[in-house]
Amino acid sequence: MDKIVEKIAVYPGSFDPITNGHIDVIEKGLSFLDRVIIAVSTYPRKNFLFTVEERIDLIKGIYRGHKKVEVDKFDGLLVDYLHTRDINLILRGLRAVSDFEYEFQMALTNRILDKNIETVFLMPGEEFFFISSSLVKEIAFLKGDISKFVPLSIKDALMKKIEITSDK
Ligand code: PNS
Repeated sequence: MDKIVEKIAVYPGSFDPITNGHIDVIEKGLSFLDRVIIAVSTYPRKNFLFTVEERIDLIKGIYRGHKKVEVDKFDGLLVDYLHTRDINLILRGLRAVSDFEYEFQMALTNRILDKNIETVFLMPGEEFFFISSSLVKEIAFLKGDISKFVPLSIKDALMKKIEITSDK
């Protein structure tokens, strides 16, 4: 009997925090994938608002009980993480043209590091086309309404974090 091979992709990112745009890409991915592993980068490349643990816990809160979504973290090279998980597919969202150069560079670099690794890009729905974690944080800091951009749990966590940060 043939072995059933699951189609699994790793969806890597900073997720500071996860937005409805990320969630839409995951949902779209699950229309043809068996499972998606959300891999939160621990690399301190940016000034993150949330710690790695907070970012992971927030995502876990959204996907609790969801059998097709796993939340993990990785440090070091993404291709090395894929090797440890024995997966050769990366999922990324592609929004506006402005994303293209950065995404193209990453995908090609990963392919050079390991020619067996492919990246699939999915376009989020047009209502999410301009959402980014940075924009959501900026709107939240300026006391705008972010309800349309993130789930309620993320909105609450952001408001709390901003309160704490502005008290300092
Ligand atoms: O959400 P982001 O910040 O656009 O995600 C970028 C991320 C974390 C996917 C990317 O920076 C990454 O893969 N970092 C791991 C280091 C690595 O493998 N670099 C070489 C490929 S560019």
